[in-house]
Amino acid sequence: MRRFLIAGNWKMNTTRQSAVGLAGELAAVAAGTEAGVEILVAPPYPYLIPVAEKLNGSAVQLGAQDVYFEAPGAFTGEVAVEMLADCGCGYVILGHSERRHVMGETDEIVNRKTRAAISGGLRVVLCVGELLSERQAGQTEEVLDRQMQGGLAGVSETDAVELVIAYEPVWAIGTGVTATPEQAESAHEHLRNWLATRYTPAFSQKVRILYGGSVKADNAESLLSQTNVDGALVGGASLKSSTFVPIIEAARKLRTTV
Ligand code: PGA
Repeated sequence: MRRFLIAGNWKMNTTRQSAVGLAGELAAVAAGTEAGVEILVAPPYPYLIPVAEKLNGSAVQLGAQDVYFEAPGAFTGEVAVEMLADCGCGYVILGHSERRHVMGETDEIVNRKTRAAISGGLRVVLCVGELLSERQAGQTEEVLDRQMQGGLAGVSETDAVELVIAYEPVWAIGTGVTATPEQAESAHEHLRNWLATRYTPAFSQKVRILYGGSVKADNAESLLSQTNVDGALVGGASLKSSTFVPIIEAARKLRTTV
């Protein structure tokens, strides 16, 4: 059985104080987490170190929200893979829809970042997802295939051993509109089949596919109980322990009842 991953993407939110406070609350919660549920937080870059210090010794994993693909050097404003590893990050989120649609990241950029992150020893959470117009035009699977193909170009099965995929329909991110469990399952199943074809069926069974887009306490259980949903990438509801912890609890409940 795949281990659930419940990830909090804090985006461009929190202050140093609130970030450290939230990390402390989650570290306390994680102490009682069953082996079947992994917790990850991705704070803004400036708070990685104080959050890492707060999480030190806890079961909560640390990740970044982006990275640059070049080795350290003259790239003003960017952050290198080895810097993230040096700050205690084990994960990096790549290809988030806000990076793609607000910052204009292409599949080629996402791919260069993915390859750099993997070779630097970070675990990648690769985000894919269609726009509302693409869903309405019946292009969801085509868009997912293109983003998977582009993002994972040149990435072998050995490279991808720790890969995590996040299906995040753009129309569900920060909108309060969640994909139905059936819509999520259908996209996740498609993504797993894609992985089976591109790599191997055995490998596809090991990759965790998270759902993201308005995940909240009241819809977490129905989404997480889908066969191919292996966790959640949570934005808004990850900013307070009062809204994030119930999502972790929903995952725990499912892992202890099976
Ligand atoms: P949301 O964001 O939970 O606020 O919809 C999810 C995400 O963008 O990762």
